[in-house]
Amino acid sequence: MIDVSTFVAKSGGVVPVITLNSADVAPDLADALHEGGCGVLEITLRTPAALGAIQKIAEDRPGIMVGAGTVLTDQDAEASVAAGADFLVSPGFSTAVHEVASATDTLYLPGVATVTEAMTAFSRGYTFQKLFPAEVVGGAALIRALGSVLPEVRFCPTGGIDADNYLDYLALSNVDVVGGSWLTPGDLVDAGKWALVTQQTREVLEQYPRS
Ligand code: 3PG
Repeated sequence: MIDVSTFVAKSGGVVPVITLNSADVAPDLADALHEGGCGVLEITLRTPAALGAIQKIAEDRPGIMVGAGTVLTDQDAEASVAAGADFLVSPGFSTAVHEVASATDTLYLPGVATVTEAMTAFSRGYTFQKLFPAEVVGGAALIRALGSVLPEVRFCPTGGIDADNYLDYLALSNVDVVGGSWLTPGDLVDAGKWALVTQQTREVLEQYPRS
């Protein structure tokens, strides 16, 4: 299983959350992000293209970490792992996904939105959790409050993160990485504007120089 520190380091601080209409563009998109400094991407299982996209990146771009997002069921998790996903992300915590992730030794990033959910995931061993939808459920203030009662848990806020607020989240002591779709706008992806994706990624990561 990839460990969380490798995941964080390879991401550069952001995990692009991508919903693709075509699997064919996946390797080029992964290259564009990687060129900009981000070697991790999450493909949501919200379109028929998703599993094919994950498979193409896993097979053709071994240096890039590809995960499946919006993993809701054990079937979703099994199909993602079979396609080559390096990690699984859910909007909430799923016992069924947890079981597949454990059985296949795959990194699982469960979603939480409340203190009780964060405690439940922590009791299952999850010290890296996705706060979702971050901007709706309390944003940076909630993550700060969670830090005082769950100091061992680190959060990846996702949902409503954009160019205007991502640095506020990354400034929190219990956040090393944020997720979001803002980095890969559908119009740029559909038009294959890879140089612009690279440039935008580089600009975003440059604002957050990691040591
Ligand atoms: C997700 O699946 O994590 C979210 O759809 C990403 O949220 P955003 O589109 O607000 O960035």
